[in-house]
Amino acid sequence: MKYFNPRDLAGHVDVLLSQRGEAITLRFAEVADAEALQGYFRGLSASSRYNRLMGAASELPAGQLDRFVHIGADDGFSLVATTSHDGVETIIGEARYALDDETNSIQIGMSVDDTMQGHGIGTALLGNLTCRAAELGADRVSGDTLRSNDAMLALARKVGFSFTPTPGDWRQVRFEKKIVPAARAIPYAGQRPAAMIADANCL
Ligand SMILES: CC(C)(COP(=O)(O)OP(=O)(O)OC[C@H]1O[C@@H](n2cnc3c(N)ncnc32)[C@H](O)[C@@H]1OP(=O)(O)O)[C@@H](O)C(=O)NCCC(=O)NCCS
Repeated sequence: MKYFNPRDLAGHVDVLLSQRGEAITLRFAEVADAEALQGYFRGLSASSRYNRLMGAASELPAGQLDRFVHIGADDGFSLVATTSHDGVETIIGEARYALDDETNSIQIGMSVDDTMQGHGIGTALLGNLTCRAAELGADRVSGDTLRSNDAMLALARKVGFSFTPTPGDWRQVRFEKKIVPAARAIPYAGQRPAAMIADANCL
């Protein structure tokens, strides 16, 4: 995959639009976000947290939180989706992607605040992650989710991911998608600070 300097990535900001027209800023998580990100995870419903962390937990485990706020830790990157009202920024979603050089693929996981689910934000996030994967030169995007996670399965199906059993864990399903060459021609919004993406145009 392409070489990149994590410091260059830190300044990249995308703006997505929810179906209700709300502007959602998507930027890399940084150390200063640790408290707010943990607050976001604590505020998720028990079932959303269970689906995201694939097990019962009241918060993001400390080691994971530490990795989430350090760009490039374990070849992974975390994005926070935020809204801003009266100058106050609130985390309303997050996504993690990890680069796997051996398979030239990117693995993803994500969540959206319960009060914001169902407004197209998950679809926009997945589109943005796919654009980022294309920009990094990956051939494939994939993720594992619980078999019981109807929302994630429906979202992945809707945007054309296919499914296979997750090796080694019967509770999970792997969703994956080849990145079409055309996606590479679509400018990855992260190259342009605060670029607008009206829809998930890499899906
Ligand atoms: C999965 C998740 C990210 C989807 O985000 P979202 O913003 O609600 O998704 P969208 O609004 O873009 O919905 C996209 C599609 O998903 C499907 N979907 C969404 N919520 C659903 C639900 N509760 N049940 C069944 N299908 C659902 C629908 O097909 C929907 O398309 P439509 O609106 O055209 O009908 C969100 O439900 C979530 O954060 N869940 C908890 C964490 C999690 O499960 N993460 C996945 C682990 S990888």
